Amino acid sequence: MSDASPGAVVLNVSGLSKRFGGLQATDDVSFDLVRGSIVGVIGPNGAGKTTLFNQLTGFIRPDAGSILLGERPIIGLAPHVICRSGLVKTFQNVATFGDMTVLENATVGALAHHPIAAAREKAAIALRRVGLQARMETLAGELSLPEKARLELARALATEPMVMLLDEVMATLTPGEQREIVEMVKELARGGMTLLVIEHHMKTVMTLCERILVLNFGRLIASGTPSQVASDPHVVAAYLGTRAASELADA
Ligand SMILES: Nc1ncnc2c1ncn2[C@@H]1O[C@H](COP(=O)(O)OP(=O)(O)O)[C@@H](O)[C@H]1O
Ligand SMILES: [Mg+2]
Repeated sequence: MSDASPGAVVLNVSGLSKRFGGLQATDDVSFDLVRGSIVGVIGPNGAGKTTLFNQLTGFIRPDAGSILLGERPIIGLAPHVICRSGLVKTFQNVATFGDMTVLENATVGALAHHPIAAAREKAAIALRRVGLQARMETLAGELSLPEKARLELARALATEPMVMLLDEVMATLTPGEQREIVEMVKELARGGMTLLVIEHHMKTVMTLCERILVLNFGRLIASGTPSQVASDPHVVAAYLGTRAASELADA
């Protein structure tokens, strides 16, 4: 079904595996993303989170497995084709073009689908959605850190994706600034966007995500609601530690 209703699976990942020499970076990873959901990916350093994202976006070709975006198999497609098909990853802060304006930066995202004039309009719409409409002519290099995080979201949004992968967009932000981005991301999901999110701040992950995938040594060792995952003994042992888990349970 190419079904756009709520509850439809928009991304189906099955048996995704990638080995680097002797190291199994992802090992038989399978999960579904349902339209409008926000799903977190957590796990220790080196667990395979970034490798998973790179396989989804086409930067790394998996050794085995399948990825369906809607009904379309996307393994083997070039990253720009996958982006045009509707799956996009946020760029890191470093990729923001500091000497270009906010509008020009967002326009780069929209050029995936549109000629320049239309791309600029799509970019302006994306910037309004993240609350940067008053900053369109500002040089990106002059933005505050939370504004840069918003611009990262806008650049991805400007490609008009079905699925957005957020790779630590809130890493540099204070807890208060993170809460603002959390609300914005939740609003996107309410509008039908589907989001897969790598984030290290556990409280932020727990408040943002309705479901969490836990990777350890490339394997999916748990998945469930934040409270299920925080009380899972395997997750506590591999990642959270007893103290962090009880703090989260109290949060
Ligand atoms: N291009 C690569 N070549 C070799 N090893 C890699 C490469 N990319 C990642 N790795 C290794 O794969 C493992 C998973 O890395 P990564 O996906 O970056 O983990 P995470 O994002 O969870 O910290 C790590 O041990 C890392 O050193
Ligand atoms: Mg990483």
